[in-house]
Amino acid sequence: MPKALVHDPLPDRRWRQSFRRKLLAWFNRHQRDLPWRRSQDPYRIWLSEIMLQQTQVATVTAYYQRFLSRFPTISALAGAEETDVLRQWEGLGYYRRARQLHAAAKRIVAEHGGRFPRDLHMMEKLPGIGRYTAGAIASIAFDVRAPILEANTVRLHSRLLGFRGDPTSVPGQRLLWRFAEAILPKRGSGDLNQALMELGSLICTPRAPCCEACPVRSLCPTQIGGWQDVIPAPKRKTKFENVREAAVVVRRSGKVLLRKRSDGERWAGLWDFVRFPLCALRGDDLTRELSQKVYEQVGVKIQPGQLRTTIQHAVTRFRITLECFECAYLSGATTASRRASMAWVTPCRLGEYPLSASGRKLAVLIASWGVLEE
Ligand code: ADE
Repeated sequence: MPKALVHDPLPDRRWRQSFRRKLLAWFNRHQRDLPWRRSQDPYRIWLSEIMLQQTQVATVTAYYQRFLSRFPTISALAGAEETDVLRQWEGLGYYRRARQLHAAAKRIVAEHGGRFPRDLHMMEKLPGIGRYTAGAIASIAFDVRAPILEANTVRLHSRLLGFRGDPTSVPGQRLLWRFAEAILPKRGSGDLNQALMELGSLICTPRAPCCEACPVRSLCPTQIGGWQDVIPAPKRKTKFENVREAAVVVRRSGKVLLRKRSDGERWAGLWDFVRFPLCALRGDDLTRELSQKVYEQVGVKIQPGQLRTTIQHAVTRFRITLECFECAYLSGATTASRRASMAWVTPCRLGEYPLSASGRKLAVLIASWGVLEE
């Protein structure tokens, strides 16, 4: 087919110029005053972008400030203990982000003299930095003409293109990245990228977008056609699965047992009570299962005790009913191989260990349980 007859879905130059002008005028008036927007320090931009993955702006703000006051520079972060980094991250979830951030900080110190690399490809070699994060840092901190694509802009661009396909498919992603790049100016890509995210987050929302307040409504085929509910194509609904787990608080001389979760496990790097999937419902079966699984996990014999509380929580697509038992330590020494990943902790010092949200709930409850007869 001759080239001229192939329909190019990307907008022409006039559309792009008009789009940028309208969007930036709106952004200058309506952007939120967010702490990371006051800086061009790549470390700060990087930290904000990692925190903002899968977490709302309102939640991130307080964590961001606290994290920076604890680890003000890349070198400070690189020199920290992983447990301290995870403790600062506690509550934000997706802890892999924090471990990768920490690992990347160490690499930047070791390989780049502590200075954040300016080159996009170098950035993408660092743990936890993909095309989106690299594009955000490069454009905002270094004014590189680099595109970004994240949840807000996937939705916005799908609507601006009138794209009815699946935005997560390979052709969908290719099209959206091409569009994200095509609309960038020669200079000032950082502002444009932030304006795009802001428009997606404040105006072009998933449900009932505020098209009346949108500065680029006259350029948007989805608004003109009234297709806001079908673009982007709705995702398939997550199928939730109900599961039962046990958390066992093993008591010994006024202390409780924690173990550090290892690489490859859920919540790797966090500390936790002994925790496992639970099958038995009651009686001897339950007692046997608790004893056996505690022994398998930490090499300690226990006297199974009572069910103290039940916590409902969710992890990815699992809805978990967590039955929390309090058990007394009977015997068993911590072997050398396990020692580094086990700790007997007085309840009032549980705050020093990074825990998952359900682990923290249990830790807080333990303090109210009083002393177990031993
Ligand atoms: N979501 C992801 N990155 C963002 C940013 N820099 N500003 C606002 N929302 C965002």
